[in-house]
Amino acid sequence: MPFEDKVYGSIAELVGSTPLVELHGLERELGLGARVLAKLEYFNPSGSVKDRIALGMIEGAEAAGTLHPGDTILDFTSGNTGISFAAICNARGYRFVSVIQPGVSEERSQILKTYGAELLQFSDIPGVPELMANEGLVFEKFFALLKAYADAHGYVYLNQGVSLDNPLSHYRTTGPEIWRATGGNVDGLVALVGTAGTLVGTGKYLREQNPDLLLVGAQPALESRKDPAHPERNTIDGVVPFVGVPQGRMPLYLDRMNVHPDEVLDLDADEAYAMGRTLTRTDGIFLGQSAAAAVLAAAKLAQRPEMAGKTIVAICADNAFKYLSTNIYR
Ligand SMILES: Cc1ncc(COP(=O)(O)O)c(C=O)c1O
Repeated sequence: MPFEDKVYGSIAELVGSTPLVELHGLERELGLGARVLAKLEYFNPSGSVKDRIALGMIEGAEAAGTLHPGDTILDFTSGNTGISFAAICNARGYRFVSVIQPGVSEERSQILKTYGAELLQFSDIPGVPELMANEGLVFEKFFALLKAYADAHGYVYLNQGVSLDNPLSHYRTTGPEIWRATGGNVDGLVALVGTAGTLVGTGKYLREQNPDLLLVGAQPALESRKDPAHPERNTIDGVVPFVGVPQGRMPLYLDRMNVHPDEVLDLDADEAYAMGRTLTRTDGIFLGQSAAAAVLAAAKLAQRPEMAGKTIVAICADNAFKYLSTNIYR
């Protein structure tokens, strides 16, 4: 949708309809036999793919009658969902409280505070420090503690980890946009995973259109995961491993919507960072960590002989500006 054709009522109307750009420079540089298309989600109004689900969950709760003007929304977010909620809440007359993960980049918490969101650490939620110490981030128990906290404070807990409006936002918007933009010519889709809403929702839609679609999830390789014993390690911010993790820490939508990737690629964070730097030069695109990782995974697929002549879409969740304090562009 060309933005210049009308006056918009609020930033909420600018969510979605992001551009799909062919990475001609990268294709040339690596001699790729397949087309690699980047879905540039940083064109969303608060700068990431998460605007889609924040709006989808808010509108879902409004329609269900569980969210009313002036209410305060609470969610747990590594940053991007929080920023999306904070922005869209301000545009729509809600307040937002974000429970953030330890180690979230300085830029992310600064942006949240600037929007006026209240930030809560794990130590602010009764029961969470004990859960983390004894069992770790077991989703079911963690979500129950957040729900109790939200109820006690009169907040509306819109949980991106369990709300079907998360994957359905992608099923209704991201998938159809990719299908339309390519004229129905998509052979592969790559996404990294936090809640798995993007992979599951977009993947489900595109698989329904093209049952031969190669649906690929990517995750940080073992040596690129957070490890207190190796604080020097580079990781891929905002996303998690989802294969080979304990059952209680599996993103829920894969089983719930019965959408599983055909393949999962383990990615080295340093290689993803290098791809981010390459893309600035080859295509003039300045991506965030998980976005650069998605392009890296797509490029790996595009190098396979059987993918010659095919079209692979990489979901690029955000751009680089929130990661300038991290090692990717240092
Ligand atoms: C930077 C970034 N990339 C990718 C994702 C993955 O998105 P999803 O939660 O839809 O799996 C997230 C959020 O979780 C994110 O913050």
